[in-house]
Order: sequence, then C-alpha cells, then structure tokens
Amino acid sequence: MTAVPVRTARPVAPTDDRRWRVVESRMRRLGNRPEALIEALHSAQEAFGYIDDDALRFIGESLAIPPSKVFGVVTFYHHFTLKPLGEHACVVCTGTACYINGAREILSAIKAELGVKPHETTADGKLSLLTARCLGACSLAPVAVVDGEVQGRVVPREFVARLEQL
Ligand code: FES
Repeated sequence: MTAVPVRTARPVAPTDDRRWRVVESRMRRLGNRPEALIEALHSAQEAFGYIDDDALRFIGESLAIPPSKVFGVVTFYHHFTLKPLGEHACVVCTGTACYINGAREILSAIKAELGVKPHETTADGKLSLLTARCLGACSLAPVAVVDGEVQGRVVPREFVARLEQL
C-alpha cells in the first residue's frame, strides 16, 4: 500500500493587513524553507516595526519551524524587537571606546531616571532604549544617537535631562 501524502492547509496571515503579503512573498521566494527564517523576520520587522506573537506563530508555521525556535532566534539577535518602539529612540553606543569612556554610566543614569534598560520602552511609550556596538564616531566617545542625531562626549546627567524633555 502506498502512502497518500497529507495535504496541510497553508498558514493564514494573522490579519488581512496588506503588509503580510510582503512577508509572505519574501518567504515564498525563499521556498518557504526553514533557512528563510532570518529573512522572514527582517521582512516582518521592516513591515511592522516589531515582531509580535502572531508574527512569530505565522512565520513559524509558514517555514515549518516550532514557535519556540523562532522565539529563540528573535531574542538572540538584538536587531529584532518583540514590542513596538516608542515615539523616540535613543541608541547608546557600547563599543570599546564608548564603554571605556562611560557608556555604562549613561545606561545606569537612564535606568535610574527613566526606568528602562536596553531594548525596553518607557511605560508611557515615549522612549525606546537601544544599544549598538560602534556608531563610527569613536573620537567623540561616549556617543549616543537620539532620533537619528549623533551626540558626542555625552555627560550622563545632562543627557538624561535632555531625554526627559522629549
Ligand atoms: S565605540 Fe562608540 S562610536 Fe565607536
């Protein structure tokens, strides 16, 4: 007796938001194979700004990867975020030059005053704190970028005061 292949239903996108079509077509172009996971996650984050539970499940089902593995990959790479970013984004450089010159103190001051750690957003949704390895402005260390604007020789207290004004 020959085995009859089981036809499984194609995973359905979480909503009819047109952005899912972009994600779906990216996965399809890559053959809906598990190797497409990183590309699919990039695509979802580009489209929606973050990757929520529905996106994790849908991408996992589409690529035949268990949700736990998808979650593991998303949390391993700092590039991916599971929550929507705040109204403003602050990136503190933690590369060697900035670390030596006070990046840790900047992060501590932000945590003490605004209550957020890297990769978190303030409770009011105003500010997301991110980190980067080197922002290419080492001579200005320590460096941070707020809403795309590079700030050099950052002094923690003054910097936090400016963030509070956003
Ligand atoms: S290490 Fe911070 S800008 Fe290079």
